[in-house]
Amino acid sequence: MTANIKDNIISILESNKGLFISGEKLANDLNVSRTAIWKAVKSLRNEGYDIYSVSNKGYSLSKETDMLSSKIIKNNMPKYSDKFNFKIYKTVESTNIIARDMAVNGAESGTVVLAEEQTNGYGRNGKSFFSPYGTGIYMSIILNLKKEKKLFNSSFITTAAAMAVSKSIEEVSNENTQIKWVNDVFINEKKVCGILTEGAFSFEDGRLDYAVIGIGVNVNFPKNGFPKELDNIAASINLKNDTINTQSDMRNILIAKILENLYDYYFNDVVFYEEYKKRSFLIGKKVSININDKEHIVRVLDIDETFALIIEFQNGKIDRVISGSVNYKLS
Ligand code: BTN
Repeated sequence: MTANIKDNIISILESNKGLFISGEKLANDLNVSRTAIWKAVKSLRNEGYDIYSVSNKGYSLSKETDMLSSKIIKNNMPKYSDKFNFKIYKTVESTNIIARDMAVNGAESGTVVLAEEQTNGYGRNGKSFFSPYGTGIYMSIILNLKKEKKLFNSSFITTAAAMAVSKSIEEVSNENTQIKWVNDVFINEKKVCGILTEGAFSFEDGRLDYAVIGIGVNVNFPKNGFPKELDNIAASINLKNDTINTQSDMRNILIAKILENLYDYYFNDVVFYEEYKKRSFLIGKKVSININDKEHIVRVLDIDETFALIIEFQNGKIDRVISGSVNYKLS
């Protein structure tokens, strides 16, 4: 069965959510047989879409359907919908693993892997990333750097992604977000998004072949709550109900906004340094920073235009750090 029929059915049912559309009308509009419609609906149900069918009335997509949909995502991308294509899965080990495989096999820049659930989502320093079904955004974006004319700068792309998430959350919610250098996004001192960028170098010229930007956002509060160890440190998002109708739209719309903002920052060179710095809550704080496996207590003086952290050691020495993990809650 062509994905096209299914996409078209979802598109029609999405824009008539909660209403019934007859099989006959769908078949006529899409110029296919009623059997083809019936088969496509069956397959969509297997994918998890909550589609009712009532004889003499037709098919209806439940108002409560809460699924990732490339159609809804694209419909909410006024600027760059043609720059991205989506692979959406129900359950995967990790979207980064799938995206890395695809990148190795030459996937285009702008290929986006999404999943409803990850069984082995991971973050920096080997930490696992809590990824329950239908709750968050688990997304990996491929950049095929062999084909890009742009030079890749890993801290730039990572900060651009953090800025895109931070801004997009504010566009769909009433939340104020902060960025913890380099790329964690926080709401009220609790982490709402983590980003992990992975890549592979070419042996021939030492340049990056590809990069995969893995973004995990806690959107909805998990049905069974956060695990104990995350309870005090993880946040979810209260979205603006006046702009978004259903829970499902929230994740899809947020994905659309993140990708559009990221495209502006990365491909269209929209400058975001000042905005990034404004959101960075480490400046002025005494923190502990792990550099090359050694902990140092330092004061954060600034973030420079290359997104490096400017720190002052206790002996007065000032340094510039481009990567490291920071703990700002000193006991
Ligand atoms: C971190 O907080 O250290 C980074 C977390 C990154 C999680 C995302 S979710 C999508 C992608 N798939 C993964 O396994 N990890 C990233």
